[in-house]
Amino acid sequence: MRVTVVGTGYVGLVTGACLAETGHHVICVDNNEAKVASLNAGRIPIYEPGLEQIVRRNNDAGRLIFTTEVDNSVKQAQIIFIAVGTPALPTGESDLRYVGAVAKTIGEHLDSSYRVVVNKSTVPIGSGDWVRMLILEGAKEAILSAVPAGGVETVCAPVTPNFDVVSNPEFLKEGSAVWDTFNPDRIVVGSDSAQAIEIMRQLYTPIIERRFAEDPKAGEVPFVVTDLSSAEMIKYAANAFLATKISFINEVANICERVGADVSQVAYGIGLDQRIGQRFLQAGLGWGGSCFPKDVSALVHTANDYGYDCRLLKAVIETNRLQRTRVIEKLQQELKVLKGKTIGLLGLTFKPDTDDMRDAPALSLIEYLNKLGARVKAFDPIVSASGIREGLSHVIVETDAYRLAETCDALVLVTEWKEFRNLDYEKMAQLVNRPLLIDARNFLDRQLLTKAGFWYVGMGR
Ligand SMILES: NC(=O)c1ccc[n+]([C@@H]2O[C@H](COP(=O)([O-])OP(=O)(O)OC[C@H]3O[C@@H](n4cnc5c(N)ncnc54)[C@H](O)[C@@H]3O)[C@@H](O)[C@H]2O)c1
Repeated sequence: MRVTVVGTGYVGLVTGACLAETGHHVICVDNNEAKVASLNAGRIPIYEPGLEQIVRRNNDAGRLIFTTEVDNSVKQAQIIFIAVGTPALPTGESDLRYVGAVAKTIGEHLDSSYRVVVNKSTVPIGSGDWVRMLILEGAKEAILSAVPAGGVETVCAPVTPNFDVVSNPEFLKEGSAVWDTFNPDRIVVGSDSAQAIEIMRQLYTPIIERRFAEDPKAGEVPFVVTDLSSAEMIKYAANAFLATKISFINEVANICERVGADVSQVAYGIGLDQRIGQRFLQAGLGWGGSCFPKDVSALVHTANDYGYDCRLLKAVIETNRLQRTRVIEKLQQELKVLKGKTIGLLGLTFKPDTDDMRDAPALSLIEYLNKLGARVKAFDPIVSASGIREGLSHVIVETDAYRLAETCDALVLVTEWKEFRNLDYEKMAQLVNRPLLIDARNFLDRQLLTKAGFWYVGMGR
């Protein structure tokens, strides 16, 4: 099938590349010229394991191309994905200007051939109808602008765009996005058009049948067909639930600290209950990243628009905000005055195996520590090597963990990169000013660290 994906970020690029891998012909469009130039030169603008090979293979095979030109890309496609960003506004609601701009542009270039416009961006409930309206507006404006000034309308026969809008929320996780795309837990498609649903089913058939999955015999991927609003809601409800699970275990961790229990043991014990499960029960510094913070806030905001006060989700957000300050409290308990102290952060990205620092807990720590007069250094396996320093003007980014350790009064493990388990902590203990390590993810081995000479402080233990 011929597919166009507008927006070539974490979601758009992975979706486009994986659909090309399954045999479709994909055009990835982005209005960021530097990004498109970089992709055309064979450089992947994001860090995502496994993506580079897939992009290269399909680009070489001519099934995956990159361009800044929307018009031709829309005209050539049967299916058009919208996969642009929907960041949060300061009020908490979603900033839909990129989705809106793309919808209008699509409308300007549609003709009478039938197409499916797929909203993959995470958008507030009701946005599917709004996208449909903008596409129609774009089409109307294109017709009007095609009529010559003072001309007769019959010069340009009005073309009624023939399309359906589908909501197809994305559930991939940065760091395992390619794997997630080929091994999804479900594919959700929301629309009231049987024709559009059938086209989406055909598009995803290789994935539904697990032809590219790790375990091809695992049975078909559930293909969930629903209405537009329910599909949009499924995405928000999923992220809100996962964020709630993390805030819940962080709250339990804070109680554990006070009563002398160990949250890791507690999480294991409750996670064995199949109704609860083990995943997303790691106490630590809290959630961050490009999705949870903005999606939970957007859901609270949408509910508020409809007169409903989300007390639980507001508490989830507040618990998460406070969790980041717990690390500062621990540093203050151990070091007392932080002014003039040097704090070293192990990790900057919001989670391992990504270069994404959007709303990363590390950024809050840097801000708090700077306010308190501490000097902040950091080492992150990807950020340090990438040379990217956007938003990092108040932190010294070191080139390796041992240089980071030099002169530090405390180390804080912020991101659970696997390689941090294999560092030579005995050597690091010799390099630091004071051998204090706050393990803000409960990721390291307390005994090993203690043996290496560190004073180890975890979360909720
Ligand atoms: N990142 C994730 O892990 C993830 C997971 C699930 C869902 N989502 C959702 O998917 C959407 C995209 O997220 P992302 O992380 O890929 O965003 P991103 O910021 O990485 O990428 C968005 C891309 O869209 C491009 N763009 C913006 N306006 C454009 C326009 N008018 N024409 C063409 N290109 C345009 C930008 O240049 C950018 O490359 C968001 O709604 C997000 O909430 C993201």
